[in-house]
Amino acid sequence: MKKYLITFLLAFCLAFIPSAAHQEVDNIVEEIMSRMSLDDKIGQLHQIDGRTDLTKVCDMIRKGQVSSIMNIVDASVIDSLQRIAVEESPSGIPILFARDIVHGFKTILPIPLGQAASFDDALICSAARNTALEATEIGIKWAFAPMMDIARDPRWGRIAEGFGEDPYLASRLAVSVVKGYQGDSLSDELSMAACAKHFAGYGAAEGGRDYNTTYVPVRSLYDTYFPPFKACVEAGVASFMSSFNDNDGVPATGNRWLLTEVLRDEWGFTGMVVSDWGSVGGLIPHGVAKDKKEAAKICLEAGCDMDMMSYSYLNNLKELIAEGDVSMYVVDEAVRRVLRLKVRLGLLEKPYTRKTSESVIYSENVLETACRLTEESSVLLKNDGILPLGEDIKTVLVTGPMADAAYDQMGTWALDGDKAHTLTPVEAIRKNLPSGVKLIYVNSLDYPRDKSTDDFKALKKAARKADVLIAFVGEEQMMSGEAHSLSDLHLQGQQSEMLEALASTGKPLVTVFMAGRPLVIASEMELSDAVLYMWHPGTMGGQAAYNLLWGKANPSGKLPVTFPRNEGQIPIYYNHKHTSHIAKGTEGNLDNVPREMPQSVMGHTSSYLDVAPTPLLPFGFGLSYTTFELSNLRVETPEVRASDSVVVYVDVKNTGDRQGCEVVQAYTGRKSASTTRPMKELKAYERVSLEAGECRTVRLEIPVESLAFCRKDLSWGTEPGNYVLTVGTSSEGGLVSYFKLNY
Ligand code: BGC
Repeated sequence: MKKYLITFLLAFCLAFIPSAAHQEVDNIVEEIMSRMSLDDKIGQLHQIDGRTDLTKVCDMIRKGQVSSIMNIVDASVIDSLQRIAVEESPSGIPILFARDIVHGFKTILPIPLGQAASFDDALICSAARNTALEATEIGIKWAFAPMMDIARDPRWGRIAEGFGEDPYLASRLAVSVVKGYQGDSLSDELSMAACAKHFAGYGAAEGGRDYNTTYVPVRSLYDTYFPPFKACVEAGVASFMSSFNDNDGVPATGNRWLLTEVLRDEWGFTGMVVSDWGSVGGLIPHGVAKDKKEAAKICLEAGCDMDMMSYSYLNNLKELIAEGDVSMYVVDEAVRRVLRLKVRLGLLEKPYTRKTSESVIYSENVLETACRLTEESSVLLKNDGILPLGEDIKTVLVTGPMADAAYDQMGTWALDGDKAHTLTPVEAIRKNLPSGVKLIYVNSLDYPRDKSTDDFKALKKAARKADVLIAFVGEEQMMSGEAHSLSDLHLQGQQSEMLEALASTGKPLVTVFMAGRPLVIASEMELSDAVLYMWHPGTMGGQAAYNLLWGKANPSGKLPVTFPRNEGQIPIYYNHKHTSHIAKGTEGNLDNVPREMPQSVMGHTSSYLDVAPTPLLPFGFGLSYTTFELSNLRVETPEVRASDSVVVYVDVKNTGDRQGCEVVQAYTGRKSASTTRPMKELKAYERVSLEAGECRTVRLEIPVESLAFCRKDLSWGTEPGNYVLTVGTSSEGGLVSYFKLNY
């Protein structure tokens, strides 16, 4: 250990001088590098999965072949492997333990798509902080999140993992997660490194089929897919993960333009880039490398520092260097970036799992925050007045395959969530039911794909005895997430038939959806008197459902993604372009198409013959148990210059009879620019809590630089001219005003 004393002392000092930052870190890194062999260096670029033969893992660590291990979640195993790295490996450099902590660690939060519906940056940040507290307690110091791929295709299973379709919303929320995970300083024992993934364009998989080719032109990358990533760089995200897809012919992990020219040279990212699982080796099936050796060269030179699981770097870099095919400079640069992260995390001076006297895992505060976030993530899509349930409700029938589905309600990537700690709706309702109210629970379908209707007769009989019917429907955890895409987004199994059976009793029907994506729910909405969309809500889903249904909490979620009327409308998103033949509210009904007439009688608009061009539910939409009115929109700065902000005021009044939260949303649009532009784009929002009858003036600020886009010559910037400003409570409708940008 003596030979590491200087490094240790330097690292120890660093922990107490956060402002010494870069230079101090670099000094330590150079000191470590000065005594590393080539093998040690190559080992630092290699990440493995810990769920394999531990003896083999230990061997590799002893040989200095492991920089990072993922998927070990036992603190004592982590510490014993760490001890081998520190005490027995040639360089003594600690291992960085990683995990996919995408929406909570032990306490599972709503899926990110659900969290996005809260439009609550601060709450998402505190929930993410709690997640870091839980994970670092076990020794995890690197989370593969936030996932911020813009997704406009709900067939894509991974839509669940991101923040939806809008670059502005996704940027703000991804930054909240980065701040929550990384805290004020990475060297804080309670912090873990975040990872901005998957860079880039992955969400545009053709046909919504995971891993599929994408074709996102440079302009759309900059305008739509890059902004959340760039925002994370500005927020100091520690690492990036490249994506699996090939975009316009170039696999992301081997794309030098993406990983070096854009990410590092243009945006100034100084952190580390890890490949996605095996995606260095993935260049072979992509057909751009003949073997792992060639793949290693392409990816390392492109700027991918760490090879996750393909063993391409470990097994080939030495030879590539010996043959002069890869320069030592490129290897050193990658190693520097890996080591910098380890130093910044304080791993050198504190390699082992921190000791805690009291565990935060599933602690009251953590659960309470998760519950609040789940309430805010739930979107009330319809309510004829049955909700919240009042004192007149004496008998409640609860049914549906998601009513008691502890595993499924946690959603995708709930790797460490524990069923036993998950409160389901039926459990929560049973636990909290007001005295004098009777619960009838009928398990009518065992799971969402259950095709049996055997219990429907009994279900209807029971339903007739109830004052209200609450059906929990949706999709299993297995229906969304990585490699879990769907072509049919209707409710599966006999769930729709179950809702029909319930509705046929004439009793008020409340349908609660738990799902990993927007489903196609037009007919189910028709059947229901009220609809609450809870996404996959996580550990506290049951409690949040109870709170919302019985009015202990008031829904305030807003859709972070457009709901299509049918799968044929996909992709459908609010911030689409004008087009030369703007769709006019045609109904889209085949019965209205005349026979044997000249085609021109139908007009020439960008519509469908068989379905309306509009979505079922627009981005930003969501109801409350109270009502809000916006008025008096004022643009304080009707004329702005490039360095200014557009400042807007609007009065928001709670016109109902109970407290509630509204999300005031400001969109900008342009009729004329050097390229075609979206009709409208979200540029600011604010959550406002108002008591019944209360009116407040809300101030929204839009920095002019946020109006920048990829101009005709592909340069990034704004253009002078007139802008339309719409302020409303969803992406449809709202109060309209104007401002002008002068140069
Ligand atoms: C996923 C990543 C994930 C990685 C490690 C990959 O298959 O695409 O999102 O972080 O595995 O588990």
